[in-house]
Amino acid sequence: MSDPINVGSVDAIDEGEAMVVPGDENGTGEDIAIFHAEDGNFYAINDECTHETASLAEGWVEGTEVECPVHSARFCLKTGAALCLPATVAARSHKVEVKDGEILLFPHAGA
Ligand code: FES
Repeated sequence: MSDPINVGSVDAIDEGEAMVVPGDENGTGEDIAIFHAEDGNFYAINDECTHETASLAEGWVEGTEVECPVHSARFCLKTGAALCLPATVAARSHKVEVKDGEILLFPHAGA
């Protein structure tokens, strides 16, 4: 597994909000959104909605799900699974750890 990226303090992302780590910084070439979910944990999935073109970081967090701001598909922040139409394809998820108050992202490149 590649080295994690320290994306900053846990205080940098308020609960219900997200931060985007650009693809050229995370090494996958695809933007990754890190969410501070309403369960208090941090989760990372690719920022782009799998339906059309939309930033999921600009969507709405409810619990451990995010709703796309364009056509309202919902994704599980824990797994990236598409939970309702119009999205049918999961968003790639990435491992996140919190260590000493810092958020560590382990980008997972696609197969
Ligand atoms: S672009 Fe996200 S649901 Fe259509």
